[in-house]
Amino acid sequence: MRTPYICGNWKMNKTIAEGVTFIETAKAALAGISDVEIGIGATFTALKSLADAANGTNIKIGGQDCYWEESGAFTGEIAPSMLKDAGCSFVIIGHSERRQFFGETNETVNKKTKAALAQGLQVIVCVGEMLEERENGTTNKVVEDHVKNGLVSLTAEDMKSIVIAYEPVWAIGTGKTATPAQAQEVHAFIRKTLTDMFGAAVADGVRIQYGGSVKPDNVKELMSQPDVDGALVGGAALKPDSFEALVKFKS
Ligand code: PGA
Repeated sequence: MRTPYICGNWKMNKTIAEGVTFIETAKAALAGISDVEIGIGATFTALKSLADAANGTNIKIGGQDCYWEESGAFTGEIAPSMLKDAGCSFVIIGHSERRQFFGETNETVNKKTKAALAQGLQVIVCVGEMLEERENGTTNKVVEDHVKNGLVSLTAEDMKSIVIAYEPVWAIGTGKTATPAQAQEVHAFIRKTLTDMFGAAVADGVRIQYGGSVKPDNVKELMSQPDVDGALVGGAALKPDSFEALVKFKS
């Protein structure tokens, strides 16, 4: 059985103080939940404080990007080991905003993913089509390309630390969620792609999160789909009560 995984992606939001206040509230509300994995992806400057605040709780803290080199003359970049040093246990790689605005490609996703895995970080690899790609019928082709090239030359062992987030770009921050059936169709396709790459046993163990306007009122139906194993959530993860409702999607 795949443990459901609800992860917030705060993007470029929250000061250190705001983030710590959130964690203090959420850790009390979510204490004792052990059948759902819980994460928050936050901005670099807040990571250490958030990791300290979440230390010893069931909330994991992660970065929203990293570089693929471990040190050196790369002004402005953050190494995977630096995320570890700040107390992170995971990193989000290849978010569509990074692909759209910051030149992220499948090749850089692959390099960053391997570098993060080498430091023992869990990696949430984001994939998903743009609106025009869905409209012109190339969703599967785009998603397959993201999965195959983003995960190229990873091992079965590596895949234990990989989570895939399927985020249709047209659903991010727009209030337009994919229907549960639309999400399931692509999630099943992603699992089939993983089966082709790594075999059924590995593919069956990989969590595939859905992302794109997930809210407390639609999370349960999305999570009821057989291949939807979690959610990567932006807007609705910014408030503790809403995040709590997402994590408690079963109730
Ligand atoms: P959203 O963002 O929940 O605000 O649509 C999701 C994401 O970009 O990860």
